Amino acid sequence: MREWGATVNAARRRQASSDDAPPLAAPSLILSGPNGAGKTALARVIHWSMVDTVLDEDGRPIPDMVIPCGRWFTATDLLGALAQERDSDGYTHSAAPGQLAGSAPFVIIDDVAAELTIPYVAYQAQEGERQTRYHLFLDWCVRNNMPVVITTNLAAAGDDSDLARHVGPRAWSRLMQMCPRGYIVSLWSVPDYRRRLGGRA
Ligand SMILES: Nc1ncnc2c1ncn2[C@@H]1O[C@H](COP(=O)(O)OP(=O)(O)OP(=O)(O)O)[C@@H](O)[C@H]1O
Ligand SMILES: [Mg+2]
Repeated sequence: MREWGATVNAARRRQASSDDAPPLAAPSLILSGPNGAGKTALARVIHWSMVDTVLDEDGRPIPDMVIPCGRWFTATDLLGALAQERDSDGYTHSAAPGQLAGSAPFVIIDDVAAELTIPYVAYQAQEGERQTRYHLFLDWCVRNNMPVVITTNLAAAGDDSDLARHVGPRAWSRLMQMCPRGYIVSLWSVPDYRRRLGGRA
């Protein structure tokens, strides 16, 4: 996680320092593991590791008041937000990942594979629609050098992994570009913290 943060910061500094410098790809991160292994807790740490100061009405910083500048989505919310919309004149607008991620330094997608059914999509079309929406979003991220942090209960090692099948080949191909070697982190050997918290371990 430290290495990920350092590399993302280096990429942001490079971008801020000079328009001429070739962009350094900010790596994405996949945290894969069983229930209760602490994936969401780690993602929260990442989320709060980059904060903006909150200003008062005169533009002065309010002491000790900060907000995270990364963008947090549950997978369900993200897929829902990527729906096509029809305006009052009946025109359909394609979903805009750029409006969801904007200029945030990174995006977190929590609980990939725990998505709810996508509304207004027939049961048979759910898988294709889910994969299309992941592709749409990750394609925008890869083109805009936007690092993504994913947490998931699915195994994520390899092209035949459950995560690869879940997001589909187009999205997976992009994830393979975005996550360098070492940035798909397996937490499968970590015991369930909830059992410990419940006094069972
Ligand atoms: N390193 C840790 N030390 C102590 N408690 C932890 C640690 N990491 C997580 N926890 C606690 O364990 C519980 C489960 O953690 P978390 O929700 O992050 O798991 P998860 O891997 O996201 O599980 P799920 O796949 O079910 O979403 C939480 O109550 C969390 O606060
Ligand atoms: Mg979780």
